[in-house]
Amino acid sequence: MTIDNIHGPAKAALDSLAKGQVAFLQSLPKAELHAHLNGSIPISTLEELAREYIASSGSKFSSGDMLETIENFKAGVKLEKIADFFSLFPVIYTLTSNPDALRRATRAVLNRFLDGDEPQCTYLELRTGPRKTDKMSREEYIRAVLDEVERYDEDRAGLIITLDRPTGPDNWKEILDIALKLKREGRRVLGVDLAGDPLKADVEDFRAFFAQAKEASLGVTLHIAETPDNSSEETLKLLSYQPDRLGHATFLDEKAIKIVTEENTPIEICLSSNLLCKTATDLETHHIRQYLRCDHPVAICTDDTLPFRTNLLAEYALLLAAPPLGLGLSEDEVRKVAEMSMNSRLKVLLKQ
Ligand code: IMP
Ligand code: ZN
Repeated sequence: MTIDNIHGPAKAALDSLAKGQVAFLQSLPKAELHAHLNGSIPISTLEELAREYIASSGSKFSSGDMLETIENFKAGVKLEKIADFFSLFPVIYTLTSNPDALRRATRAVLNRFLDGDEPQCTYLELRTGPRKTDKMSREEYIRAVLDEVERYDEDRAGLIITLDRPTGPDNWKEILDIALKLKREGRRVLGVDLAGDPLKADVEDFRAFFAQAKEASLGVTLHIAETPDNSSEETLKLLSYQPDRLGHATFLDEKAIKIVTEENTPIEICLSSNLLCKTATDLETHHIRQYLRCDHPVAICTDDTLPFRTNLLAEYALLLAAPPLGLGLSEDEVRKVAEMSMNSRLKVLLKQ
């Protein structure tokens, strides 16, 4: 825990727990199913990459800007609205724009989740949207990440490939084609994801891509209803693509909740992410409660540990801590939630 730069609501919840409660959380088998690679890079790795970047020539960002951004990540980025969140990535992307840096970042992320004295989880589905840079193609990007993921057994780690909403159909097609090709090669591509700025793109444009992914037995997980500005019509359209899991699902209306409940579609819940991006006001009214009440499958996840300064243990602490710091669940209830996460792994869902 000491190695992670954690802060904010999850840290407060974790600090409120007795030693035995922390040990209990630590001992639970847990699956992290919603972690974005470039949003999960440990701060020490980012600093290392930044130092090398600054020492190299031809920098896009001045060293002052770069260092200031890293200091902001350490001190805590200010997020007034969800749009502020997406502006954080250009600096990170500059630091992971060649295969070597990307491999190192991926290795550090996998290590932080899966290894050490206090591993965050038993199983990790890492996700990332491949970027083409002047140093690598999208396919080289994914191959570099997969090489790192596949250093772990398949019961420990797998990859989800993200289609980024703002980038457009030509890019989505190229990315899906790479995902299908790598899956055919037997590489550990488990599924595809829809992510990126939730107010960009017409989701109708994704219909054929997700149908193709499902046909090839890839899992499909969708960031859905992330903001109040995502329309009910959009949400219903996304649900009609029959996703295997949903990310956030914060603003589902009754019709959508009925479909999700009937389909028993697991929801990836990212408590700190929602609180810090201000898409949830507090834990008392957080949408996780309605799913817990009816035993609907949820998976507790971190989303982006770097900007949200959290880790998976601290997200679980938000379940166990007494209100107002946490939801005040019992240990048995938390154990059940952890089991739900393990049962929501794509490889489990796709076998059903
Ligand atoms: P990457 O795919 O490894 O580059 O991870 C970072 C990217 O994930 C960001 O640029 C966003 O597009 C996306 N992302 C991270 N968190 C969220 C989220 O909560 N909602 C939508 N997109 C997200
Ligand atoms: Zn996300």
